[in-house]
Amino acid sequence: MRKENFNLKEAYNKRTFDAAPTIYRDKSFVEIIYLATGLNETSEDPKVLDLMSGPGKLTGELVNKSPANYYCLDFAGSQLSKISPEVSNLRILAEVQSLPIVYESFDVVVVRFGIKDLTADVQPEVIEGLFRILKPNGCLIVADMISPEGTGEWLNAQHALKQELSGRNPQTEGKCNIPSESEWIELLEKAGFKTEVFGRSVSYVNTSAWKKSKQVTEEQLGKLNQKIVDAPDHIKEVFNIRQDSDGLKIDYPLVVLKAIKLS
Ligand SMILES: C[S@@+](CC[C@H](N)C(=O)[O-])C[C@H]1O[C@@H](n2cnc3c(N)ncnc32)[C@H](O)[C@@H]1O
Repeated sequence: MRKENFNLKEAYNKRTFDAAPTIYRDKSFVEIIYLATGLNETSEDPKVLDLMSGPGKLTGELVNKSPANYYCLDFAGSQLSKISPEVSNLRILAEVQSLPIVYESFDVVVVRFGIKDLTADVQPEVIEGLFRILKPNGCLIVADMISPEGTGEWLNAQHALKQELSGRNPQTEGKCNIPSESEWIELLEKAGFKTEVFGRSVSYVNTSAWKKSKQVTEEQLGKLNQKIVDAPDHIKEVFNIRQDSDGLKIDYPLVVLKAIKLS
C-alpha cells in the first residue's frame, strides 16, 4: 500500500454506501452497465472483475442477473469485508496502481465511479493495466461522471473539495480528474481499446446524502453547499442546481463506456 493514499483509503473505509446518493441503488443505471458487459449474451462462465468495488453493490446486482465468477477489488478493507459470500467470495485487497492479477485472465472488467477519483497522471497507467489483464476480445466497462463542455474546471474543483473535506490530502494524494466524454474515449483508445458510448444516465443528488453516507460532517456539508450555491449561472444551468424544501440538489451527467480489447 502506498503511504500517500492513506487518507483517501481511510475516508473510504468509513463511508456508508447504503446511505449514498440514490444512483448507487438505481436499477436502470445497473441495467445499462449489465447490457454493456454482454453477460446477458454469453453461455460460458466468464470471469468478471468489479474494480474499485467498495462494498460490492454493483456485483450484488450483476450476480442476480447473470451467474459468473465475480471478483471484487478495492483498497478499503472494511468495504470489502461487507461483501456477503453469496455475492462474492473472491475479494482482492489491492490498489489499482499495482494489480496483483495475471495478464489476460479476465473476460470483463467493470468500474463504476472509480477512475475519475484517480489523478490525471495515474489514470492512463491504470487503464493500460486493465488492458493487460483482459483476455483478447474482453471488455472494460467504465460507468462514471463526465465533465460537460465548459464545466471541467468547476466540476473538478467541487468534487476535489468534497474529497478533501472527506479526508483526501491533495498535497500527497493529488486531486481527482473527471474527464469530458471525448477525453474518456481518448484515454481508453490510447491504451489500445476500441471504445463506444454504450449509454448515458444522470445522478440526481440531494447533497444531504453526502452527510448521511458519512462522507462529510454537517459543517463540511455547509461549505460544499456554499460552493454549489455560488456556482456561476452557466454551471447552475448545466447541472440543474436548485434548492427546494428537501435540500440542495444537483444533477451530474454520467456515461457508460464499452471498451473492447480487440484480438
Ligand atoms: C466512489 S466509490 C465506488 C464504489 C463502487 N464502485 C460502486 O459503484 O458502488 C470508489 C471506490 O474506489 C476505491 N478506491 C479509491 N482509490 C482506490 C485505489 N487507488 N485502489 C483501489 N481502490 C480504490 C474506494 O475505496 C471506494 O470503495
